[in-house]
Amino acid sequence: MTTTRLFCTTPRIQFGPRALEHVGREAARLGKTALIVTGRSSSTKNGSLERTRALLAAAGVAAVPFARVESDPSLDTVTEGAGLSKENNCDVLVALGGGSAMDAAKAISCLLANPGPLASLEGVTGLKQGPPVIAIPTTAGTGSEVTRVAVLTDTARKYKLLLVGETLMPAAAILDPELTASMPPKVAAATGMDALTHAIEAYVSKLATPLSDTLALAAIETIGANLAMAVAAPDNLHARAAMLYAQMQAGQAFSNASVGLVHAMSRPMGARYGVPHGAANAMLLPHVTAYNRPACPQRMARIAVALGRCIDGMDLGEASRQAAIALTELAAELPLPRTLGDVGVPTGDLADMAREAAENGSSRVNPRRPSPEEIASIYHELA
Ligand SMILES: [Fe+2]
Repeated sequence: MTTTRLFCTTPRIQFGPRALEHVGREAARLGKTALIVTGRSSSTKNGSLERTRALLAAAGVAAVPFARVESDPSLDTVTEGAGLSKENNCDVLVALGGGSAMDAAKAISCLLANPGPLASLEGVTGLKQGPPVIAIPTTAGTGSEVTRVAVLTDTARKYKLLLVGETLMPAAAILDPELTASMPPKVAAATGMDALTHAIEAYVSKLATPLSDTLALAAIETIGANLAMAVAAPDNLHARAAMLYAQMQAGQAFSNASVGLVHAMSRPMGARYGVPHGAANAMLLPHVTAYNRPACPQRMARIAVALGRCIDGMDLGEASRQAAIALTELAAELPLPRTLGDVGVPTGDLADMAREAAENGSSRVNPRRPSPEEIASIYHELA
């Protein structure tokens, strides 16, 4: 590392069993009226929305629910949420859900403080601070509760739009493992592989630092040891808690060190064909890891060890190959799609998707700078 770097994360993180009980106190520190940003059904069905409202009310904070967020939130949904927040003079946002709900809340806050439309805010530096966000994840994957990024879907352009800036960072995060207990196995598998992708991409990124490395390695180790169990036995709260904390560490790592080629390649899959983010990453991760290996063999060998592989007696080439092998074996244990055909991506579009991925900023910090042809050939490995 040759230049000074800033490391930032969410300043207040409540975590542990029944952490949700802190939501009232955290919200009362920040405002009087909360917009609760959540998905369309699960928080209503499992009672977490009502519980959050009651906890806010007990702390003297009024609540306005906005239970309209779809997966991969659209610009229209965010604009609608910002309108509702303004109408009700909300001064704090409580995001309850997976990455989609949290990213929507962060984007609503951003839109309330910066002149829109949202599409014009991509790439803008110095975004003004909107109302504070309290992020409460109910999946274990995106780490959005500790990142300075919000990912939205521009449905008209079939494009993933990124808002980035320190003002996107939530003011507080609440990590309660019991909230992830109702996550279906397929969601647990996909979101868990997303978190593993965050940790690995941060660890091999050109922007990695000693701080991000520590978090990334801890996350890789914990996810490698717990993901299959968290998926196979949803009532194993120990494994689900381990996954929840590890995905947060992975979020802290990549929010500061960036993601890489896997994310650059999964974004066109999501934007054009609606492939769930975690499932796309899970499919790509072993292949991109094998492609990146020659650029950072020591780090790949370290990843292999963190995933539980024994590399004793191996030379660096063989040891570094164990990372992609371990990832292939882990993905094979999980209920996830395996091929582009499984997720409805036609091979005819791969060259165009590869061009888009090559231009993505995440490709620039990948340890190996890929050409569009190399990216297309990785896509074809999945056909
Ligand atoms: Fe991701």
